[in-house]
Parts: sequence; structure tokens; C-alpha cells
Amino acid sequence: MLDNKPTLNQAEFAARRQKFLQQLPANSIAILSSADECYRNGDTHYNYRQNSNFYYLTGFTEPDAVAVFIPRRTEGEFILFNRVKDPSKEIWTGYYAGQAGAVKDYGANQAFAITELDAKMVELLTGKQRVYYATARNDQFDVRVMHWVNELQAKVRSGVGTPTEFFNIETIVHEMRLIKSSAELAIMRHAGNISAQAHKKAMHVCHPGMYEYQLQAAIEYEFKYHGSSYPAYGSIVGGGKNACILHYVDNNAVLNDGDLVLVDAGGEYEYYSSDITRTYPINGKFSAAQRALYELVLRVQLSTIALVKPGVRYDVLQDHVRKELTRGLIELGLLTGDLEKLIADKAYFDFYMHNFGHWLGLDTHDAGTYKVDGQWRELKAGMVLTVEPGLYVAPDNHKVDAKWRGIGIRIEDDVLVTETGYEVLTVAVPKSVEEIERLCAGK
Ligand code: GLY
Ligand code: MN
Ligand code: MN
Repeated sequence: MLDNKPTLNQAEFAARRQKFLQQLPANSIAILSSADECYRNGDTHYNYRQNSNFYYLTGFTEPDAVAVFIPRRTEGEFILFNRVKDPSKEIWTGYYAGQAGAVKDYGANQAFAITELDAKMVELLTGKQRVYYATARNDQFDVRVMHWVNELQAKVRSGVGTPTEFFNIETIVHEMRLIKSSAELAIMRHAGNISAQAHKKAMHVCHPGMYEYQLQAAIEYEFKYHGSSYPAYGSIVGGGKNACILHYVDNNAVLNDGDLVLVDAGGEYEYYSSDITRTYPINGKFSAAQRALYELVLRVQLSTIALVKPGVRYDVLQDHVRKELTRGLIELGLLTGDLEKLIADKAYFDFYMHNFGHWLGLDTHDAGTYKVDGQWRELKAGMVLTVEPGLYVAPDNHKVDAKWRGIGIRIEDDVLVTETGYEVLTVAVPKSVEEIERLCAGK
């Protein structure tokens, strides 16, 4: 299953550009910048990763690039500015596509050296009325775009048309990114399978006395081994009460006999994220209190996933999770009182303080708004979201019996909305108490 390695071909990127360009009005121009390289220390950099919007429309993975899109332009609608080939630099960093490569391998209609950007942009902006770019994302780029426009304004008395309307390009690109194509889904299934395999390995090797980072190493080894470039986000491995820190990334404590461990980790494959959380006993056997809370979270996760289908609103799922967790907390005695009143008072917030899930794709917390015109969005076929309810009983919560304190549980899967319902992309990693105990016992 992991041997077949899906990739996106140029036709996919060309189709995206076509769809994007069709949405640009007459007399407009759209500009996207690549991600910046970030210095780590001295002359070493953090791993470079392309900006997701830029990658989505170009497939181009080098830094120092700017993509320009002009609908219905005679010389071509897609222009790429990128690095000039330079053997003395490429000997250090690897090959650059250069301008010929940008045209041949990335489908640009024209390509220019990035050093020509300022001069050419003033030319390309001439006579355009509407400019689309990623507003307010990068101060320097905002200033640069305004600088080009400002240069043109100086020529307005000689009859040169200058842009007068500015739009956020993300309103178009993010809406496109929200609905995944079949090629994207093949990649996301693969990312899900790699991450599922990694979680299974971790369950198998986990034992009391090991460090959280050693469990992290077992997972990240599997990611890399199967071609996932890197974790989609900082892996969270929290033993015992560390599971109650939602984005715990220290991962440096010993895993103790009798505690649970919460592992939230997903690999990025071909730029697409997966995002899985499993929580299981370090010694392979749930205690009664752990099991009771675990089965509550699992029941809520499964019943939420079962609601996923086109037409269901995001807040319906949110409300379902809050209601069912609250109902379970009353049943177990962690909350007392009337169900509806406890929900209205947000009493669940002491135990469950995050959202039930988020869009997933090129970014882990993927592009796309959750509300449209003030209304919660309805699910549509092709969307991918996580479903990740959790319960976290603070170690110092003296309002509950001592047996619950310091238990943190989250269960998270990646779910595709299909025409008729849903498909769980991360189904290969077990989550029932029996399956987990069997997998842990099999070591
Ligand atoms: N790992 C981040 C999240 O689950 O949203
Ligand atoms: Mn998540
Ligand atoms: Mn997660």
C-alpha cells in the first residue's frame, strides 16, 4: 500500500491555474510571492518549504520567485520570475530551474530573472485596474506592491492607467483549496496511510521508562522512511499530565507505567498534511478511570464522524461534540447539573477547550473560512477535515475525584466528505480499547 507513491503532474497545476484565471475579472492582475528562506543561525537555514498558495498554483518549489497571472493576456497568462541559473551557486544548493525550466517544466508562458521584478512589474501593472495579492501577509511584499503602484501613479498625467482596486487573492485561492481533486485525495490518502503506519509502530514499541522523544523518533522514522519529507507540524508526545498541554512539544519526559500517552503526529507527503492523534496506555492496559474517559471521547468521535455528509453545517458538528462530551461528563460524575444549562454555561470548557476539527490540506490548519456571509459553512463533497474531540482533566482540578486528575485524551482522524457521507483517510490506525490493548500486548 505504501509502495505506490502518488504525485501531482503538471496537468493538475495547469488545470488549477485555468480555474483561477477564469475567476479573475477583466483588467486585473494577480501576484503571488514564494515563501522566504529563514536563517536559523550563522549561514544555515531552516528547511525551506514553499508557500502553500504559491505551490498550489505553480508546483514550483524554489525560493526567490514571484508568479503573476493576467487573464486573457496575448503573450500568455502565467508569468514566473525566478532565479537565474548559476553553476557556482547550484554546486552548493542543488539545481535551479532557471527561466527555460520555468517554461518547459512548470508551464510558465514567460519567465524572467527575479532581478528584473521591479522594472517588469511596473510594466505589467500598467493599465490594470484591479490587483489581487496576499494582502497583509508579508509587510515587505505589501510595501513592494505599493511601491510599484506608486511608480505608476507618477505617470498618471501622461495618461497611464494605474490600479485603483486591491483584493485579497486568498479569497479565490483558499476557496479552491477547500475542495480537493481526486489527484489531491490520492496524495492525502497516502499521507494518511504513512502516518497510520507510524502510529501503529509507536503503539507497538511504547513501554514504561522510555522518553517521550524516543516515541517521537519511532514515529518520525516511519514518516521519513516512507517518503514523507517532514512532520506536518511539531509532533506532540505527552505522557501523563503532559497530555493536558494542548500543543506540548517539549517531548522530553519519561513515560511512566500506569499513565496514558497522547501522540498527535502526522507526516507531510508531497506538500499535503495528515493529522492523527491517538491516546493509549504506556503499559498496554487501560485503568478503569482511563478507560471510562477514553470510551467517552471515542464514542463522541465516532458519532461525530457518522454525521459528516454534504449539507451538514460545521457548527452542527461543534454543538454535537460539546453536547455529547457534556452528557458523558455528567454520567461519569465530573459535572453535575442540567445538561442544557451546563452547555449554555460552557461548563465543558474546563475539560474541552478547543474546536472539534479544522480543514486539512496543504496546511495542517488548512485554508478556507469557517463562515460565509456570517453563516457557518455547510460541508461539501471534496472537503477534508479533522474530527478531534478530547478531554483534559487538569492535574489541579479539585472539583473532580482524584482518579480523573491529570488524564488527557484526544482522538483525531482525517475525514473526507464524499457525495454520500464520509471516508476516514486515517482508518488504518486502531482506536478501540480492544484493538489498542491487543496491539500493545503483541510486542
Ligand atoms: N496537531 C494540531 C492539531 O491537531 O490541530
Ligand atoms: Mn488537528
Ligand atoms: Mn493533531
